[in-house]
Amino acid sequence: MKHDTIEKNIGLMILLIILVISGGGLAEIVPLFFQAQTTKPIEGLRTYSAVELEGRDIYIREGCHVCHTQMIRPFRAETERYGHFSTANEHVWEHPFLWGSKRTGPDLARVGGRYSDDWHRAHLYNPRDVVPESKMPSYPWLFENKLTGSDTAAKMAVLKKLGVPYTEEQMETAQDDVAGKYEIDALVSYLQALGKTHSVYNNKR
Ligand code: HEC
Repeated sequence: MKHDTIEKNIGLMILLIILVISGGGLAEIVPLFFQAQTTKPIEGLRTYSAVELEGRDIYIREGCHVCHTQMIRPFRAETERYGHFSTANEHVWEHPFLWGSKRTGPDLARVGGRYSDDWHRAHLYNPRDVVPESKMPSYPWLFENKLTGSDTAAKMAVLKKLGVPYTEEQMETAQDDVAGKYEIDALVSYLQALGKTHSVYNNKR
């Protein structure tokens, strides 16, 4: 009988549906904010260097994350191809995180060390030179633009406020590390660091 009342009153039904879904959602999501596994960095995690950090910003600027995920799912087909599945504690210092949601190209979470720097340079200059059937765009301007590093330390300071443990020393040397490097150098350094900022899963690929 009571159920009749709910079924005949769409306003009440909407309200109750919202309550039930929110309750369920909160019960699933809220504990994640307090679990060490999702909030504490994985053992031995290091921060991105100044150059890698600039590379990461170029990765974001060029929209690489629109075609590439950085999240290996716990399925055999994925772990055999890409390595150990991704875990939250590998990404606690990523602001913003770059998990992505669309894979036009392969996952890059553990691409570091898979190819040589020269391969990446050739590939980013014109992907079809190394992978003839590739649909990935070319990025020739990365070979012309130079970085000044003038705001690298400021970027680190912001990340530090968000909990990334950059040291004073890293911030002091940031500009010198970055200044004069081409954008391609920074991007390749970043790609080579992916999956290599700790050694817990001993990335086999
Ligand atoms: C329009 C979609 C698209 C965009 C944007 C894109 N890629 Fe790709 N990427 C691909 C495709 C498709 C492949 C597979 C073919 C190939 O290797 O070129 C690929 C392959 C790669 C690979 C080789 C991965 C592997 O495991 O073999 C790397 C590294 C890579 N991309 C990096 C980048 C970077 C860095 C950017 C941004 C500067 C970028 N991609 C932007 C589509 C894209």
